[in-house]
Amino acid sequence: MKKIKIIELEEIDSTNEFCKRFNFEEDVIVVADKQVKGKGTNGREFVSDEGGLYVSLMRRLPNFDFKNTFSIMINACVAVCRTVESFGLKPSVKWANDVLVDGRKICGTLIENRLGADNVCSSIVGIGINVNNVLPDGLKEIATTMSEQKGGKKLSVKRIRRRLVKYLKKQYDVNDYKTYCDWFGQEVYLDSNGQRTEAIALDVDADGSLVCEIKGQIKKISSAEMSLRLKCKSI
Ligand code: BTN
Repeated sequence: MKKIKIIELEEIDSTNEFCKRFNFEEDVIVVADKQVKGKGTNGREFVSDEGGLYVSLMRRLPNFDFKNTFSIMINACVAVCRTVESFGLKPSVKWANDVLVDGRKICGTLIENRLGADNVCSSIVGIGINVNNVLPDGLKEIATTMSEQKGGKKLSVKRIRRRLVKYLKKQYDVNDYKTYCDWFGQEVYLDSNGQRTEAIALDVDADGSLVCEIKGQIKKISSAEMSLRLKCKSI
């Protein structure tokens, strides 16, 4: 990936929304110190107080096939894992797009693609990493920060950002992603519309689906259908 323009903001509603509003023609990275309306997956809020790293990468994707959309997420998750790892932490991926450390969420990813008639025209990859931000009480059980994981040491958000941008420029594949999935072979829950199904997680396919065993049958599940809950972790 060529040199990419970085737009730095102090405060914004959401870096993803900012990208959508400006609909940039060239590839761009938008970073904000704070988001007042940070967006999570499934319409949820993503608490984005000062001290965290909030980034959106907007790219034009000429002739990008629908079938390959999971590769966008693979790239984002692996780039985050490599970044977090390079600061001495041990990340894992919770399918499909959360990054955990010590069984708690350290980063969330929200990918918003603009679709054309038969391809993906552009994508916005939104990444929120908990760095020095103070987590609200309600999140402390299920989320963590890089600072907490480093024993309370304050980290340079700018340094982490530079590292993330470097890793986002590289290309990864599903095997890179799978090296961070430490739950293959385990009993898990699959949640959908308030319903919970027990399964054994077996693999992640190149198309991004989760391969699992449900009541003795092998099934492929898409992340749009169900979300994964790890029995051994709090999330
Ligand atoms: C999730 O875990 O639910 C996804 C969270 C994604 C948060 C990032 S922070 C940067 C970008 N801007 C947003 O409003 N959301 C994403």
